[in-house]
Amino acid sequence: MKYLSLVSSLPSLLSSRIESVTGVDPELRAATKPQFGHFQSNVALRLAKTEGKPPREVAARIVADLDVSDLCEPLEIAGPGFINFRLKSDVLARSVTAQLADPAVGIEPAAEPQVVVIDYSAPNVAKQMHVGHLRSSIIGDCLNRVLTALGHKVIPQNHVGDWGTQFGMLVEQILFDGTDVSALTLAEAEALYTKANAHFKSDEEFATRARNRVVALQSGDSETRKIWQQLIEVSLAGFNEAYQRLGVLLTDENLAGESTYNDDLPQLVAELEANGTAVVDDGALCVFVEGFNSPMIVRKRDGGFGYSATDLAAIRRRVRDFAADRIIYVVGAPQLFHFDQVFAVARKAGFLPENVAAEHVAFGQVLGPDGKKFSTREGTAVTLNSLLDAAEEKASPPIALAAIKYADLSNGLNKDYVFDVDRMVATIGNTGPYLQYAHARVTQVLRKAEADGLTEQTVVSVLSEPAEQTLALLLSRFGETVAEVADTLQPHKLAAYLYDLAGALSVFYEQCPVLKSEGEVRNSRLALCRATKRVLASGLDMLGIEALERM
Ligand code: ARG
Repeated sequence: MKYLSLVSSLPSLLSSRIESVTGVDPELRAATKPQFGHFQSNVALRLAKTEGKPPREVAARIVADLDVSDLCEPLEIAGPGFINFRLKSDVLARSVTAQLADPAVGIEPAAEPQVVVIDYSAPNVAKQMHVGHLRSSIIGDCLNRVLTALGHKVIPQNHVGDWGTQFGMLVEQILFDGTDVSALTLAEAEALYTKANAHFKSDEEFATRARNRVVALQSGDSETRKIWQQLIEVSLAGFNEAYQRLGVLLTDENLAGESTYNDDLPQLVAELEANGTAVVDDGALCVFVEGFNSPMIVRKRDGGFGYSATDLAAIRRRVRDFAADRIIYVVGAPQLFHFDQVFAVARKAGFLPENVAAEHVAFGQVLGPDGKKFSTREGTAVTLNSLLDAAEEKASPPIALAAIKYADLSNGLNKDYVFDVDRMVATIGNTGPYLQYAHARVTQVLRKAEADGLTEQTVVSVLSEPAEQTLALLLSRFGETVAEVADTLQPHKLAAYLYDLAGALSVFYEQCPVLKSEGEVRNSRLALCRATKRVLASGLDMLGIEALERM
């Protein structure tokens, strides 16, 4: 371990010490009441079952064999055989002090850093980003920040939808209208989409030209490609504007649209055919995998490639060229089947070796106040910009953004959630602005201390009050919380942790005067405030939320 192991996570240190005696994970839980200490384990109850002995007897044996006197007060056996652990307050104090001095704020770098590809955002050309892309951008960005903080090499990939038959009718409509594409905004390009679609449905002749236009695009016809390229540029400008507004990390370097795989497709097909993974069925090139009702169509009867083929090519490149250890897809739940199948086919084809993980982080929908899928009065999808506008009507941009991001990240990802602006921007309750407020308030305390001539406090020495201990204990869990998010890809665990921390901080203020106390107690409490401020700031940053100094 990098430094005094106390810092990164007292609970896991304790846990591994217990496990070395019991042989099984003690499954330490936070104690339900302060009089039970800090943690409780039911390990004796579980072992008693397998050994056929009375649980209290097993507990007594474990307590006798276990020497954690350097970390804990004397152990207690409670009720039917629970073991209670109370950390020594000087151990907790040293832990927070070390965390305060640690540039990584108690986050321990991964023992084996990985190359992690995160596929996120991925809007479609000539369409504005909608709430689904908003969720993907926010969640993907959070995972990017968390994994990067743990020392992994993250390669974000923005799998933009920039290819497909829809470009036939778009280009044809542009030529029909004589539109100067380069002068369009993204919203105007989207209007064009609607128009072309209607035209396609009502005018058979137009539809035929649009279909021929698809062939022209695929075969590289220069006029067609030029207009298509312009559509992409107009769209990317719009996407980048949205990314800037959202404060997400994506840049042009992360762009890897569907079309960038075109040149790989013939070789991909050759490999699939050579190793017998793909077979021609009714004119289409298909891969059949066990457990799926329908095959994956790699190449359609007309020779065209679709969404699945591109995703297969993307995996192939991510493994071969990027040497990815882990590939994460942040895409809405409706694509569950698609990714299940793509992963299965990629494994079968040898593009995705067993030692490379592929995970679909599926997320639910954003619902309107009526509890139905969030859409405009006209029934179209709500754009990202209009959501941000709605929140900014109620709060300043950084607060509005915090509100939206936190609402998105604080629930289990696969749950749908209701877009309720008033609740989201409130500074009370489990909201982003509440956490920003907690950070601003602790900053304010430290600012006052400085104004009073109290300079940097670096040592937490006194932790006699329960509220101080609770706060210190939570701080010691930061590192393991971040590691857990990286593991499970569940940002709501970090959100919940920060919410608990902010709550513990406000109980601490109530019960432990800071500036009104004196001497060593005051210094120690100020140091505790500093440590809390740093953890809040670091945690908020990982959620992509700005830790405001004032509010
Ligand atoms: N463009 C797609 C959509 O808007 C999302 C792409 C997700 N990434 C992928 N590799 N398929 O639904």
